[in-house]
Amino acid sequence: MRTVRTVATLRAALSSARSDGSRIGFVPTMGALHEGHLSLIRRAGDENDIVVVSLFVNPTQFNEQVDLEAYPRDEYSDAALADGAGADLLFAPTVEEVYPNGSATTVQVRGPLTETLEGAERGFDHFDGVTTVVAKLLAMVGPHAAYFGRKDAQQSLVVRRMVGDLNLPVRIEVCPIVRDTDGLALSSRNARLSGADRARALALSRGLRAAADHVADGTRDAVTLVARARAELQSAGIEPEYLALVDADDFSPVEVLTGATLLAVAARVGDVRLIDNILLSPISTLTPTPTPDTAATR
Ligand code: PAJ
Repeated sequence: MRTVRTVATLRAALSSARSDGSRIGFVPTMGALHEGHLSLIRRAGDENDIVVVSLFVNPTQFNEQVDLEAYPRDEYSDAALADGAGADLLFAPTVEEVYPNGSATTVQVRGPLTETLEGAERGFDHFDGVTTVVAKLLAMVGPHAAYFGRKDAQQSLVVRRMVGDLNLPVRIEVCPIVRDTDGLALSSRNARLSGADRARALALSRGLRAAADHVADGTRDAVTLVARARAELQSAGIEPEYLALVDADDFSPVEVLTGATLLAVAARVGDVRLIDNILLSPISTLTPTPTPDTAATR
């Protein structure tokens, strides 16, 4: 695996692959790589000839300066992990390379998709920062397919919407959430959880799972399902920023489960903001399917 830092060297490194018709898969990340990221890199490797991973802590999507400053950074270990998972190129640009002279252009997706849940809690600037940097990274890499995690389900839908609206020639693949064996969704921010808070944080996945079990038992009513998950959070002393049932395709509110629905949660545990979600499908209670979330094997 080779590390490149400028758009010019990235394009030069990809030019022969592009001209000989190789398929390029792309995994954008902010680093502090874990099994969740690595699952995307492996999937990109299974489906493409060349895998590019970007490592860029994008300042424009952080709504809290302390969160940006506390974001874990370890390029040396990230490079080894990305290489081990099959990446061919690591694109690790500086802020100046991505935003030379600031940048006067912002890509904004407007409407309920960016105004609810994460958008409502973190403000428009968050998704504007994400869509702008993802549009720029897609223009820099020029991949055939880009891989995102359902851990950030709303982000994946916002990116899909942007790609559709701008007619960008790239396929967006959304991959399952990777969890630790105890259920905690892997996140770069988990490293900042103290021992006691890490144990409390398990209430998020426990609450989601409890609601899923209720669905399997035949419950379809949103109020009952949300109350079930909320009870788990309360037992750990966690007050969610949001805990909501939304349509899996457009994040519109769901009152009665009829199709693919996400139960999504965000909560602060200690001073760490965590998000998680689970896909609830009323159909799967009739035809059992393998659980969509995969446990990390580490
Ligand atoms: P980051 O938080 O580093 O995540 C990079 C990708 O890894 C995202 O698509 C995210 O959904 C996925 N991911 C994170 N945890 C996961 C898990 N436990 N299981 C599966 N996938 C997981 O998301 C971002 O960076 C940024 O917003 C970015 C898209 C790079 C734009 O700056």
